[in-house]
Amino acid sequence: MEKPFRRRDLLGIRGLTAAEITGILDTAETFSEISTREVKKVPALRGKTIINLFFESSTRTRTSFELAAKRLSADAVNISVSSSSLSKGETLLDTALNLDAMAPDCIVVRHGSAGVPHQLAKASQAAIVNAGDGANEHPTQALLDAMTIREHKKHIAGLEVAIVGDILHSRVARSNIHLLTKMGAKVRVAGPGTLVPTDFAHLVENGLTVCPHIEDAIAGADVVMILRIQRERQDSAYFPTLREYSIHYGLTNERLDLAKKDAIVLHPGPMNRGIEIASEVADSSRSLILDQVKYGVAVRMAVLYLATGGTATGT
Ligand code: CP
Repeated sequence: MEKPFRRRDLLGIRGLTAAEITGILDTAETFSEISTREVKKVPALRGKTIINLFFESSTRTRTSFELAAKRLSADAVNISVSSSSLSKGETLLDTALNLDAMAPDCIVVRHGSAGVPHQLAKASQAAIVNAGDGANEHPTQALLDAMTIREHKKHIAGLEVAIVGDILHSRVARSNIHLLTKMGAKVRVAGPGTLVPTDFAHLVENGLTVCPHIEDAIAGADVVMILRIQRERQDSAYFPTLREYSIHYGLTNERLDLAKKDAIVLHPGPMNRGIEIASEVADSSRSLILDQVKYGVAVRMAVLYLATGGTATGT
């Protein structure tokens, strides 16, 4: 039998087993009730220190990691890169070693380059949690997406999930494709030909299909996940104009009607209304975008707890 999650670092979904993913989701479920209490705090991580080291901007991920740490009674420290000694020429590794010398239990890192969390994990005594590395992975986003799907559909195996948009530059897409195929979902991706990578061939036998048109991906889907155009990672023109992108790939009510009647809509945020998603969809009862944010706190509580030595629920 596969073992549940007991890893020190969370660097990506790719290296996790289905049992490890389930262990994190079950633990997150037990933590989610804490955020509904009047006093939103338990002593699970009292005496532990978490450092948030974000080299890229973030609203949801950074705030929810900080809230997650505080709701578990850990001490949370946010490092602002613009006011750190990185701006004086210190290397990333030296910064990490200096932070590590202060004996944090966990460093949560977001960086624009793929592989940075993996480098830090080799050098650091603290557990390293990847909060997004370049276009590589965003594991806690995929976990909170999975929690949202599980809460609303009660299972993941057998579901048909459409992922639409800028797949090429999306760490969210990569982590979700790994997670959903490991958990037995059928995943269909679609986007402009220039924004769908060809390196997914090895996942086809695990349940991944690359669709030529957005309509093919959405038809009959249980879950429609829409991705933002990652303009900050694009080095050339991948489509003529945003207006044309919106016409051909934007999620409208008309396109969503191709999905199952009870299909749910997810978007990792930040969303660009009127480009990849119409406001009428984003604000509809089928949209669970704010539920994703809500479950993000519970998932990050579970990840911090497990990364710092806690045992997964059910073990
Ligand atoms: N989904 C996500 O990573 O959002 P932020 O960039 O606001 O953290």
